[in-house]
Amino acid sequence: ETVEWEAASYDMGGHDTYMHKEISEQADAVDRVLRGRIDDRFSTVHLGGLNLDPREARGIRRVKILGCGTSYHAGMIGAGLIESLARIPADAEPASEFRYRNPVVDPDTLYIAVSQSGETYDVLAAVQELKRKGARVLGVVNVVGSAIARAADGGVYVHAGPEVCVVSTKCFTNTVVAFALLAVHLGRIRDLSVTDGKRIIDGLRKLPSQIQEILDGEEDIKKLAAEYAEAKSMMFIGRVRGYPVALEASLKLKEISYIHAEAYPASELKHGPLALIEPSLPTVAIVPDDDLLEKNRAALEEIKARSGRILAVAHTKQEKADHTILVPKNEDELDPILMGIPLQLLAYHTALAMGRDIDKPRNLAKSVTVE
Ligand code: AGP
Repeated sequence: ETVEWEAASYDMGGHDTYMHKEISEQADAVDRVLRGRIDDRFSTVHLGGLNLDPREARGIRRVKILGCGTSYHAGMIGAGLIESLARIPADAEPASEFRYRNPVVDPDTLYIAVSQSGETYDVLAAVQELKRKGARVLGVVNVVGSAIARAADGGVYVHAGPEVCVVSTKCFTNTVVAFALLAVHLGRIRDLSVTDGKRIIDGLRKLPSQIQEILDGEEDIKKLAAEYAEAKSMMFIGRVRGYPVALEASLKLKEISYIHAEAYPASELKHGPLALIEPSLPTVAIVPDDDLLEKNRAALEEIKARSGRILAVAHTKQEKADHTILVPKNEDELDPILMGIPLQLLAYHTALAMGRDIDKPRNLAKSVTVE
């Protein structure tokens, strides 16, 4: 049985790279993480392995999310979802940084370790240190039975299926969806209304078809990649929910194309990085149609005034941008899940145009099991 599973996981299914296969699988992957977990009667979510009873869930005063790389970025979006839907103060931090700054470990804080592989040393060591100090730690993990899944008190499996490419794509998306499920679960035990619970659940159910719609636009994104592949460096900006999307998109581009990329909150541009803007440094801007739309548009104007080229990822065409990649609108809270996907394709086609070894980028390993 093990042999069969491995053989299946190494089948590229007609794709040229695992990365392309894994990007293309995301509608099905999201369908899997949702399956069997939604309770329409109470507009809530059931997560079997959480090991957290409602009384304990109500007692949580703070949530601290720990992970590395892409999992850290997914955790940043997860923190935003928990804070906005469950109204529990939440933030994310790189696991190794957390461990070495001798953090105050608080019994009323719920710690959540995020890891695709479940084997990343920095994350595992943080979990072990937390457990040693008596903290409650949950895992949001892809690989079933992995070291982090075993070390945690409970958690949520993200069910993305095997991810072979060194760079993470479908697992990022599924991890964020898993956090949305956890946020609804915690929210409905606390102060999230039935109406808002239902609103988010309806939004979650729309995701697979909306993801497919984005994937169907791949040819257009490929053309854009050819235009931007000549850049020596790229800037990625977003605000609040859009900022982790910018961070993740910039990491993806760096990892597989080796183009230098920076990600900044759009609001921080004027505090320094605006000095970099000139025609040869394109900016990718995350511009959702939400309460921050006007603020984001103002940032685009500032970039345009310095003759910067702009590629916007948005729900409506952005006049100030040279190009706009349109994505379908969902609930504001869930928009980051969709906005990351075209930028995975952008990184992919940029790296492909440059002839990079996409599945095995230089200097990187799929899971970093050493310090
Ligand atoms: C993702 O593209 C990276 N290769 C890397 O940042 C990765 O997300 C990180 O090493 C964490 O891995 P994990 O999710 O397996 O713990």
